[in-house]
Amino acid sequence: MKKPRLSIAFIFIFGALGGLLFGFDTGIISGASPLIEANFHLNTEQTGFITSSVLIGSAIGALSIGSLSDRFGRKKLLILASILFLVGSGLSAVATGFVPMVIARIILGLAVGGASALTPAYLAELADKEHRGSLGTMFQLMITLGILLAYVSNLAFLGHNLLGVRDWRWMLGSALIPAILLFIGGILLPESPRYLVEKGKTKEAREVLDRLRVGTNDDPEEEIKEIESVSHQEKGGLKELFTVARPALIVAIGLMLFQQLVGINAVIYFLPQVFMKGFHFPASGAIWISVGIGIVNFIVTVLAYLIMDKVNRKTILMFGSVVMGVSLGLLAILNFTVSISVAAIPTIILIAVYIFGFAISWGPIAWLMIGEIFPLSVRGIGTAIGSAANWIANFIVSQFFLTILALFHNNVGGPFAIFAVFAFLSLGFVYYFVPETRNKSLEQIEGELVSRYNDKQKKA
Ligand code: GLC
Repeated sequence: MKKPRLSIAFIFIFGALGGLLFGFDTGIISGASPLIEANFHLNTEQTGFITSSVLIGSAIGALSIGSLSDRFGRKKLLILASILFLVGSGLSAVATGFVPMVIARIILGLAVGGASALTPAYLAELADKEHRGSLGTMFQLMITLGILLAYVSNLAFLGHNLLGVRDWRWMLGSALIPAILLFIGGILLPESPRYLVEKGKTKEAREVLDRLRVGTNDDPEEEIKEIESVSHQEKGGLKELFTVARPALIVAIGLMLFQQLVGINAVIYFLPQVFMKGFHFPASGAIWISVGIGIVNFIVTVLAYLIMDKVNRKTILMFGSVVMGVSLGLLAILNFTVSISVAAIPTIILIAVYIFGFAISWGPIAWLMIGEIFPLSVRGIGTAIGSAANWIANFIVSQFFLTILALFHNNVGGPFAIFAVFAFLSLGFVYYFVPETRNKSLEQIEGELVSRYNDKQKKA
């Protein structure tokens, strides 16, 4: 009996659900940590560690879980990540002190990191080439939705204890709902057809493609042939990664480092603190500002979703670099030249412009492209290393941001000037290194990047 058509919307929403947990679990802690600190009588270092432990876990999760997906498949590891999400969310909601909380947050990190390494490649491998941009943007869309939900939850639980002192337990525990959905989705989702061809399971791959490509211009038969043309290559694992796949590795690591070094999470994680410390805003006002920023972040990502297959990715990235560089530069000048009472409102507006620049470009495209650029045989391990680089850079920025802010006597102009430099550097990086991937099949992209390596070898 012929199996029914697979709904693209279903696959991409469930496939990207890991992003929702990624956004929620990284965004929630700014609101929850003061409550946990008071509840467990923690010192500042301990609270800081509860925040950053998830980032450490993520780097480890990306490397370990992500790289196993070349061997065991994308689907099985997505299910493993969803189980870790369930365990981590549950344990963090019932944690009784510092150590259990750190353990729960590291488990959550393993899941977040795993999802960030698996999802981009999985979505890219299932999409047809004309819609791969929008479909891949679903991951970032889910991340921004998760962040927004976390902010709203922070606001809802701020100050008043609706349900007694243990409110933060509800905040953290609510992540169980998307975790259950991801688990169910993981069981129902198909395995990636490209992984299946790579493992010689062409018949199964054909079946998945037949059910997926209904109503598109793609011919499953042709697609299988194209995948087969790259899948018999020599499997060198790490060796291949550092030789033929080296151009892709450079692009992936560069995209991931710049995505973080432009300072996005200084805003996403610490905005309330910036406004409380730098501009003497009350906590409630400061949290409202971050909700506003969370809304802008989400809505602009919807816009990115709509344009992603219509405009070249490189053009969008360079546009984003310029918007971020200019707004960060102006933020720095403003905060070094006028008093905080005059600077406050223009600062909020310029931060919104900066978020626009990020959310239309580097936010979605960095995650989209690491799923697109690696050769099939090392795609799992390649995306794993790329996303681990993202988490390490995220950790460094988050760990040092408040210290740098303090060095400049809480004047945000200081750190923003540093981020502006990275935004302008990112422009050059895109121009010289990043390939255009729009409207090309994954196999075409693989061919182009591998020939970059071969051409260099010939010249040498
Ligand atoms: C990207 C970044 C993540 C950041 C988010 C903000 O997903 O990887 O670190 O928090 O964008 O929207």
